[in-house]
Amino acid sequence: MPTHVTAFAPGRVNLIGEHTDYNRGLALPFAISEGVTVKARAIGERRIKTKAVDLGAEDSFDLARPARVKGWRAFVRGATAELLAAGVPVKGTSLEITGTVPRGGGLSSSAALEVALTLALIAASGAEQMDRTELAKLCSRIENKWVGARTGLLDQLASLYGEAGHALRIDFRSLKVRPVALALDGHRLVTLDSGEHHANAASGYNQRRAECMRACELLGIPSLREATLELAADLPEPLDRRARHVVTDDERVDRAVDALAQRDFERLGRLLDESHASLRDDYEISTPAVEAAVSRLKDAGALGARIIGGGFGGHVLGLLAPGARAPEGAVEVRPGPGARVLE
Ligand code: GLA
Repeated sequence: MPTHVTAFAPGRVNLIGEHTDYNRGLALPFAISEGVTVKARAIGERRIKTKAVDLGAEDSFDLARPARVKGWRAFVRGATAELLAAGVPVKGTSLEITGTVPRGGGLSSSAALEVALTLALIAASGAEQMDRTELAKLCSRIENKWVGARTGLLDQLASLYGEAGHALRIDFRSLKVRPVALALDGHRLVTLDSGEHHANAASGYNQRRAECMRACELLGIPSLREATLELAADLPEPLDRRARHVVTDDERVDRAVDALAQRDFERLGRLLDESHASLRDDYEISTPAVEAAVSRLKDAGALGARIIGGGFGGHVLGLLAPGARAPEGAVEVRPGPGARVLE
């Protein structure tokens, strides 16, 4: 059994298909090179002892009785409890967490943390790694049950299935993940921080999810994947607009896959703009700070720009043509490999 292990899990950028995952729809994310690293070492006591190096904070608990807490500690306790509940024989472990992905910025720092923690705890316990889709579901339970954010599977699947040079077309009805080459012919994808940070649990995220469920109840369908524009139009305000966003963003995912295959970057840019307008006007998850960041990218000549992730702040994504100058503070993002145990 290894006594020292290191696991790394990347954050993600979602190219298109936002707030579609919990509606059993489509999305096109990719893993980025920034992420969370967890070093784990088996220890004699039946405790989980954790150092969050970047925060200068620590935690220690009896692994058989992880009590509920708030903040980053909820992820460690949730990871331990959910792994034990899934039959993984978690052993006493000392953990050290470091990260390079901005926290609460819409680049999926939470999923990177959950995935790196679970991979490290499994490896340090000498257990077999789980099927990646099952692990994504387990990580999502940590967030739903322990952190209180009713998020879907987008971030965890992107982190676990990431491939260098590829985005992932994910169908959340079948949970089929298909790599799609992200060959940009000199174009660049950049993220720009809106400066406004969020916690999914505290934002309007859970409210949007509840609105989608209510829309399904009223329409008598199992998920908004089964909705159409005609059905959406029959819903009361604002549920009609929420459903319209989901239906149109699902469609935009396959249009974006097609635009990439055709190397039609003008069209890809237009799709990003349309997705943003839909998230701003129909889904109402934009803010003045996000709009300012989008405008800065558009003023720099971006072919398209949009809010990414849960919304209500965070980073925005822009597609820049070859030679276009990125606004100050923008960071280029490239698709990198998925989560892995390093040693
Ligand atoms: C957050 C959630 C994801 C997904 C996106 C919106 O990142 O964690 O599950 O719902 O928002 O697309």
